[in-house]
Amino acid sequence: MLVIVLRSFNKVISNFKFSSIFLIEIFLFSIILGILIVLLFDVTNFQLFVVALSILIFDLILLYSIGIKRRKDIEEIKSVIKSIRKNRFLHEDEIILSKSLKDLEGNIKAMSRRTQQDIANMEKLAHARTEFLGYVSHELRTPIFTIQGYLETLLNGAVDDSNVNKTFLKKAFNHSENLNALLNDLIDISMIESGLLKLSFRYFNLYDHLDEIITDIRQTLPSQKINLSLQEFNNGLEVYGDKDKLKQVMTNLISNAIKYTEEGSIDIIVIEKSKSVLVTVKDSGIGIAQAEIDRIFERFYRTDRERASSIPGTGLGLAIVKHIIEAHHSTIEVSSEINVGTEFTFKLKKFALS
Ligand SMILES: Nc1ncnc2c1ncn2[C@@H]1O[C@H](COP(=O)(O)OP(=O)(O)OP(=O)(O)O)[C@@H](O)[C@H]1O
Ligand SMILES: [Mg+2]
Repeated sequence: MLVIVLRSFNKVISNFKFSSIFLIEIFLFSIILGILIVLLFDVTNFQLFVVALSILIFDLILLYSIGIKRRKDIEEIKSVIKSIRKNRFLHEDEIILSKSLKDLEGNIKAMSRRTQQDIANMEKLAHARTEFLGYVSHELRTPIFTIQGYLETLLNGAVDDSNVNKTFLKKAFNHSENLNALLNDLIDISMIESGLLKLSFRYFNLYDHLDEIITDIRQTLPSQKINLSLQEFNNGLEVYGDKDKLKQVMTNLISNAIKYTEEGSIDIIVIEKSKSVLVTVKDSGIGIAQAEIDRIFERFYRTDRERASSIPGTGLGLAIVKHIIEAHHSTIEVSSEINVGTEFTFKLKKFALS
């Protein structure tokens, strides 16, 4: 019994506490009301006492009812926020506050939406980081194991066998070069993605630039079965961009075209527009299936066919290309048909006298 009385008493006190912020206003209002009654009506002491008592009772009832309302509202808000914190709501429509708090409901919904998005992004990032580490260690392991294998065989006696020693050393060296290329790609990707890559933009002659790249690559062409050519265009054309990074783009695209074309032609085509220039690398190679086209720019993505084949690569080349082209405020487009060929096209800003 005593517990019930104590609990009810505590509740009454707590209701009053919730309305305490209005205490001064109600107190001032009551004094003004009292003064007005005294000034306007000729009241006896007893009547004054009754008036004061009535105002006091009225104030207490008012404070109590305001307290009940405020306590309910605050408890409702507290419980909704607690549920958001504990991730109890699956959907924002589940957040419902009473009519008087509709404005706040909108804000809490927006806050909850934002929190959900932040959590989802963090989960995605954590997943991407783990996946990235997994890929990197896998890609590093292959050349390191191969180099170790050759060196071990040489140390175990093959070094004195003049039939194989040079071949093994050459193979180990080639794998160390692949390793170096992979590390450079990884450094590029991490520099680009962390925003540390600084581009240096300027105007340069496109024809000379492409001609130089193609001449270099021609010397390393693996077979005579591929015809790499730069189609004629205005050789005075100047474009705006980072020359070195665009060289990396062209080298990646052309080396892909070479890798994925057994026999045929690779053409570099430049089309001049009024304010821009379209650069295309077109091959007559094995092509890419439509279902895979959307994914080839993802880092480490290689088609199942390439993964199963002996063609070396890590799937970083096009991810780097895409980043560099986007840093030039442009996009890279691809169109391809299996066993017909593939075309990669991007746009550059042209020098124009204006
Ligand atoms: N010209 C092309 N013809 C056919 N398939 C291509 C062509 N270019 C890219 N691809 C496909 O896109 C995938 C991703 O290309 P990307 O250049 O990113 O990686 P990679 O060439 O496999 O390895 P690397 O990191 O050495 O460049 C390739 O594995 C290949 O399947
Ligand atoms: Mg590549």
